[in-house]
Amino acid sequence: MADVQTPQVSKGLEGIYIDESSICKVDGQAGKLYYRGYPIEAVCKNASYEEVAFLLLNGRLPNKAELDDITKTMAKERDLPDGVIQIIKEMNGKAHPMDTLRSAFSALSAYDKEVTDQSSEANMRKAIRIISKVSSIVAAIGRLQKGQPYIKPDTTLDHVTNFLYMLNGRKPTQLEYNIVKDMFILHAEHSSNASTFGTLVAASTMADMYAAVTAGIATLKGPLHGGADEAALKMMGQIGNPNNTEQYIEDALAGKQKIMGFGHRVYKTYDPRARIVRDYLLQIKDSSSPEVRTYTEIALRAEKLMIDKLGASKGIWPNIDFFAGPIYLAAGVPADLFTPIFAASRSVGWTAHVLEYWQNNRIFRPLEIYTGKVDLQYVPIDKRA
Ligand code: SDX
Repeated sequence: MADVQTPQVSKGLEGIYIDESSICKVDGQAGKLYYRGYPIEAVCKNASYEEVAFLLLNGRLPNKAELDDITKTMAKERDLPDGVIQIIKEMNGKAHPMDTLRSAFSALSAYDKEVTDQSSEANMRKAIRIISKVSSIVAAIGRLQKGQPYIKPDTTLDHVTNFLYMLNGRKPTQLEYNIVKDMFILHAEHSSNASTFGTLVAASTMADMYAAVTAGIATLKGPLHGGADEAALKMMGQIGNPNNTEQYIEDALAGKQKIMGFGHRVYKTYDPRARIVRDYLLQIKDSSSPEVRTYTEIALRAEKLMIDKLGASKGIWPNIDFFAGPIYLAAGVPADLFTPIFAASRSVGWTAHVLEYWQNNRIFRPLEIYTGKVDLQYVPIDKRA
């Protein structure tokens, strides 16, 4: 029960536990991340995205038959209804891909006969359907905004290869595949972050899974959360020349600006996901693309300065989104698709949390301290100043 005599506000719900969960542990002091108990480094090295989806949804690694089954089901569910493709076409060029994704995804509910079936079996089927289709929507958005025709999914390909095939019309190189596969895995889940909390708030009203995930997509968009990867690359673009990096950062900090891709509510040391992303940065730093080489140098110089200035002293370190931009560019992914891909990947975490929360649901209904007046005299409109 809340203490109504001496109420305490925790801005941003800092330090507040909303529930118990066995999906993911973020150890912000040690800089460690576990999916269902498995260290993220081992998951990233060994698993496919389909295997990670099974792990997060079911709480354990699949056996061979189960992995085969979820892989086939995800492939079978990839198709998009024509109505959803029409929405993407209609919004193409007029809206940011995150807005198009939010609208197109929301419309999917119209085509799912199980939308109101709240049995756990139907909800698990919907979770897999959603995870599968969000990536198809993102690929379709990317494809159409390049002015190229929609490519139907290929059910013979794994999830990530199919995503890149639908986006680019060709199979990825090994490096492109590795980068995007690892980003899909690294972004799949991260405990009670803002978008997962947004998803759970919607789910806690017993709104359906599509409504809940739509809330997650909407919440992910902002630059303080999922939008940071695109915003960090934009900042690197503004820096322009690597030799401007230090001055730019010094000026931004002096002006009390936040440096996108740094800082985290939970990690007070290096984000373990950022280390994996940074390893790719080192792999691509001699890339043939001058643009990628420039961004890579800026990113490494900015990282050094930020850690020197704010790492140990304020616990501000790079998060996963800082190095994402240059490596995505090296994989042929344009900047405005970074956050939509984050959403596609995070659909696993969102749905896993909804399934878990619904096992023991309670509506979210926090309090606020009212600071306004009471018992004011109602003044008729013609008597007001
Ligand atoms: C993600 O929570 C998750 O799990 C999210 C995520 C996931 O997987 O779901 O990990 C994905 O969203 C990563 C974070 C992406 N956002 C950014 O990179 C945007 C830049 N970073 C921040 O704005 C900030 O660090 C947050 C939003 C990430 C965290 O915000 P907090 O915990 O509310 O911290 P704060 O804004 O109150 O800052 C605390 C102090 C302040 O200084 P003082 O006023 O105390 O002197 O740290 C400073 C801030 O000014 N600070 C920064 C900074 N981040 C915090 N200073 C400069 N640059 C920054 N990036």
